[in-house]
Amino acid sequence: MAHEEPKFRLRSQRWFDNPADPGMTALYVERYLNFGLTRGELQSGKPIIGIAQTGSDLAPCNRHHLALAERVKAGIRDAGGIPLEFPVHPIQETGKRPTAALDRNLAYLGLVEVLHGYPLDGVVLTTGCDKTTPACLMAAATVNIPAIVLSGGPMLDGHHKGRLTGSGTIIWEARRMLAAEEIDYEEFMQLVASSATSIGHCNTMGTALSMNSLAEAVGMSLPGCAAIPAPFRERGQMAHATGARIVAMVHENLRPSDIMTRKAFENAIVTASAIGASTNCPPHMIAIARHMGVELAIEDWQTVGADVPLLVDCQPAGRFLGEAFHRGGGIPAVMRELLDAGRLHGDVMTASGKTLAENLAGVADIDRNVIRPYAEPLKEHAGFVVLSGNLFDNAVMKISVIDKEFHARFLSDPEGVFEGKAVVFEGPEDYHARIEDPDLGVDERTVLVIRNCGPVGYPGSAEVVNMQPPAALIKAGIEALPTMGDGRQSGTSASPSILNVSPEAAVGGGLALLQSGDPIRIDLRTRKVDVLIPEEELRTRRQHWKPPVLEHKTPWEEIYRSMVGQLGTGGCLEPATLYLNIVETRGES
Ligand code: FES
Ligand code: MG
Repeated sequence: MAHEEPKFRLRSQRWFDNPADPGMTALYVERYLNFGLTRGELQSGKPIIGIAQTGSDLAPCNRHHLALAERVKAGIRDAGGIPLEFPVHPIQETGKRPTAALDRNLAYLGLVEVLHGYPLDGVVLTTGCDKTTPACLMAAATVNIPAIVLSGGPMLDGHHKGRLTGSGTIIWEARRMLAAEEIDYEEFMQLVASSATSIGHCNTMGTALSMNSLAEAVGMSLPGCAAIPAPFRERGQMAHATGARIVAMVHENLRPSDIMTRKAFENAIVTASAIGASTNCPPHMIAIARHMGVELAIEDWQTVGADVPLLVDCQPAGRFLGEAFHRGGGIPAVMRELLDAGRLHGDVMTASGKTLAENLAGVADIDRNVIRPYAEPLKEHAGFVVLSGNLFDNAVMKISVIDKEFHARFLSDPEGVFEGKAVVFEGPEDYHARIEDPDLGVDERTVLVIRNCGPVGYPGSAEVVNMQPPAALIKAGIEALPTMGDGRQSGTSASPSILNVSPEAAVGGGLALLQSGDPIRIDLRTRKVDVLIPEEELRTRRQHWKPPVLEHKTPWEEIYRSMVGQLGTGGCLEPATLYLNIVETRGES
């Protein structure tokens, strides 16, 4: 590709080529020469492109971005730009205590500071593991310089004894099998490890693949980027194309605010339902929207997405894993179906420089075994249901994972009503300590409730709501009970839990007032969850409620807790949402 002459002064020239201030220019330039860059390059007027590197030995899901970055750099160079790679605070979903969720907003803050404070004209966001995608997109939204997502891609499909084993999803199943003594510890470990086949992130439609898919659906990556498995040659080719494209985006001054509009977020919500996306997507997408200055509420997931059918046959809602999803056509195939069905806004701009409809014009060869036609879905009305009631303002439930057996056992009422008694746990430690206690009286009419697991309570909000019943009940054939909590659950879980309850117990949400034995009614038809005790009693309990004493283990935990909002509004650092569009990409300053 030929180097395009810039039609305006680039932002980076305020650092590297400012004749009005030779003193500062020399200071800015000299140190970037010390690893071999030349003055000619830095003062050429070529766009300086950051590569926000999320991979490291501590972040194995994203680690291959260290190698992919070389292809990104080649793409940037070929298109006439200059790449500068820099690290992002690691966020490893499976490695970070107490929760990786705590680090989403920390990585966000760090990236905002880098994008704002260094001479960058555009940025390639390397995404993969769950929170890396929202953290990067939130920062790109706040700063609003040209930005493009490069997903790392899922691991190859996992196999064990002739069957597919999906990341995370197999853990939930293996734990049940271990509890039921169907397998021993050795086989348990082998079964779980079989899902980690290669470089890449989780290969189920968990939070990682869901959020990378929604980054594509909202228009922030090149078409087809999300699903390519990490080791495939197309992944390296996509890295090159992404690097080349960001240079053009800088010349076009195509910024996140041009792409991530209200319509684009609605497209993402509709796509989320069709792929059977993770329950972590609503808070992450709401957080990105808020940092973009776009109004998006939890209720939008109900009104825009709840009635959209499930089209993608991927675990945990379906059968397949990342390889089949990619070969089946990936996100372009899904969005093509949705566009043809009139469910998407085709006129939105995307990172490719074309509208969504233009991107999808050539999509063909959809594998109908994996990606269903809109008219013949795997499930009707497969989006998230947004619930409310006298215990909370909002919570979400993933309809696409409610299987027939669960439905027959717990929601057999033609009205979709379930009534049961609460058994309340004060957090995951309490749950693990007491779940096998026969005195709890857990039976098939129990709702397992967990609290103090929200953003303030845990802190960060823990993925713990998909609690399994006691082993005795599992052995008796009751493999799942209705569950509810102010934490989250892993996107790889197939549990239809009532999640992300906002406000959380730790800040005085209604869940704090619940007691074991309280009758609870879950009415899916009216989307209401209520504790069936008199108002008067609830008022009395509230008068006696004392906020928990929060024990901060690190300075960040204390800062985070003092500023974080609830999951229903994205779990953002509230003061940060006031900073919008903080960098001017055009003109002198
Ligand atoms: Fe990193 Fe699933 S744990 S993608
Ligand atoms: Mg997770």
